[in-house]
Amino acid sequence: MINILNSYKELSSIVADIVEKQLRKQPLSKLILPTGSTPLGLYDELVKRKLDWSHTITFNLDEYLMNHDHPYSYHSYMKKNLFDRTNIYPNNCNFPFRPTLSFEDKMYTYRGIDLCILGIGSNGHIAFNEPGSSFKSRTRVVDLTEQTIQDNSRFFGSAEDVPKQAITMGLGTIMESKKIILMANGKHKLNILKVAMNGKVTEDVPASILQKHNDVEVFYCD
Ligand code: GLP
Repeated sequence: MINILNSYKELSSIVADIVEKQLRKQPLSKLILPTGSTPLGLYDELVKRKLDWSHTITFNLDEYLMNHDHPYSYHSYMKKNLFDRTNIYPNNCNFPFRPTLSFEDKMYTYRGIDLCILGIGSNGHIAFNEPGSSFKSRTRVVDLTEQTIQDNSRFFGSAEDVPKQAITMGLGTIMESKKIILMANGKHKLNILKVAMNGKVTEDVPASILQKHNDVEVFYCD
């Protein structure tokens, strides 16, 4: 079911409530976190709440194949928008890396991800699992589709500057999380969200795999 909210503020604050509840209940929580425009309000809201992140371990969903120090890398995004504004230990903040099997091993060590927050791409991707990704996929290097490169060019200035490849957690990896929240913002996301959540479960729409998870909540505002 898609929960339709009245505003971006409400979207950010409802998801922040879920994260806050998790961190208070279990300080040693293991979270999977997204990037993109959608979670920016969530991160601002979490910072405002001055939570204790000192026992929290995070795994980001994906990263471009590029220098981590690049201003548009997801490492830089997370530092700027969340990590540097909380008391989280940098060593507890993980991003997919190569060899990808070692990253999966590291996640396995912390198996039992408590909460995974996701966004959705306009072609139905989650993390960088583009249409056609196997539902069993694990962390790996992927080629980005032209659509995703175009969509994400707004961060880089031009499509030519967007990296063509990324490392992403797999759909199989994401589905092992105990609880999953999908956030979507903007009229342009509503159609794909409906297709993913109410349509056929197919690898052509990666987010449709979420219909098979037993604890998913979907929040949308236009
Ligand atoms: C990128 C990220 C996804 C994210 C998507 C939507 O492609 N890899 O994890 O969900 O963008 O981003 P936005 O919130 O900016 O629409």
